[in-house]
Amino acid sequence: MRISVIGCGYLGAVHAAAMAELGHEVVGIDVDPVKLDALARGDAPFFEPGLPELLISARKTGRLTFSSDIAQARGAQVHFIAVGTPQKRGSYAADLTYVDAAVEQLLPQLSPNDVVVGKSTVPVGTAGRLAERVAEHGSGAVLAWNPEFLREGFAVKDSLTPDRLVFGLSPEPDAAARGEQALREVYATALADDTPLVVTDYATSELVKVSANAFLATKISFINAMAEIAEVTGADVTQLADAIGFDVRIGRRFLGAGVGFGGGCLPKDIRGFMARAEELGRGESVAFLKEIDAINMRRRDRVVQHVIDALDGEPYNKRVAVLGLAFKPHSDDVRDSPALDVAVRLKGLGVDVRVTDPEAIENARRIHPQLDYRETLDDALRDADAVVMVTEWDEYRYLDPAEVAGLVANRQVIDGRNSYDPAAWRAAGWTYRGLGRP
Ligand code: UDX
Repeated sequence: MRISVIGCGYLGAVHAAAMAELGHEVVGIDVDPVKLDALARGDAPFFEPGLPELLISARKTGRLTFSSDIAQARGAQVHFIAVGTPQKRGSYAADLTYVDAAVEQLLPQLSPNDVVVGKSTVPVGTAGRLAERVAEHGSGAVLAWNPEFLREGFAVKDSLTPDRLVFGLSPEPDAAARGEQALREVYATALADDTPLVVTDYATSELVKVSANAFLATKISFINAMAEIAEVTGADVTQLADAIGFDVRIGRRFLGAGVGFGGGCLPKDIRGFMARAEELGRGESVAFLKEIDAINMRRRDRVVQHVIDALDGEPYNKRVAVLGLAFKPHSDDVRDSPALDVAVRLKGLGVDVRVTDPEAIENARRIHPQLDYRETLDDALRDADAVVMVTEWDEYRYLDPAEVAGLVANRQVIDGRNSYDPAAWRAAGWTYRGLGRP
């Protein structure tokens, strides 16, 4: 199939390359020429494991091209909208400027048999509105919604072999049939492998995405709330998570208590969901998400407080090594990153923070040039009065406490991800502080 993908960010670039890998002929469209040049060379413009290999492999087949000219979308039969929907400034709502602009620019390029497919995470009701806009324009094209569930760090795998597919289709039978047929062809490989498929209406498909993210955020904040209780009772939240996680109805995944969730999706999606529910007169239905957000933000306060305690209440001018800047390992994304937020807050307290990360330094430096970035772990750790680990990259997670003890000035460690074995650190002479662990 000939496919266009509008928007080549974390989502679109991987989707475009994956579609080409699966045998389709794909053009990726974006407004950023630097990004496009990199992609065309087979250089991923951001860190995503497996993406460079995928780009090179797709490029060799000649099936993957990139352009800043929307006219290049002409001739494709399926057009994926994969642009960002960030949080609006000064509001919880999602900013749909890029989605609306992408659709408007695409309209003149559409042919009667085309299918426009929304992938971006949008407030429920958007697909219906955009379908009307597409119909009104009179090209004969139809619209379908196909939410994306990929996780950064596993985006290539999630795109090539998704764990489920959701097709949100038009209420008009003819448009629905055309949308479904096109999407079945696009995802023929995954469907042949028995990937679960839910064929539904626009609203359900839009809600599937935001409710999945709301559920995941709730699961994380639930265990973080238990960590708060553990902190005042002497209980151990990691053991608690293991014990409740053995119940298959609960499950252990996403019960990792720590500094909390961040990234380009979970925080803004729960806020956007609250804003949309409010507009729909159902604010109370998801009012609990405000609490989920608040619990999550309190965890950052807790980590900062742990650091202050480790410095005997006198953080000014003390040297603190912050290990991690990305919102999670295997990513260079620092959007709403708890790790970066902790570093910035410590800096605000007058701490001499030395921050490091295997992949995210460049992105962090762009937003917070005031931080002291160290390229190597040793450089960040040297002479530190306290060490705070906030992104569980393997190189931080598997640190040998005895080996690094010689580098620091004081053996104070704050485990922002509950990744360490407290006994091992204590045995090596460290004062260990975790989140919800004695
Ligand atoms: C998320 C959804 O998982 C994905 O399906 C959706 O398409 C986009 O949003 P992503 O943002 O890539 O994906 O990251 P995810 O792996 O979900 O982690 C989100 C945040 O939660 C990270 O900051 C992570 O560190 C944190 N987290 C995750 C925890 O704090 N504890 C956990 O147990 C799990």
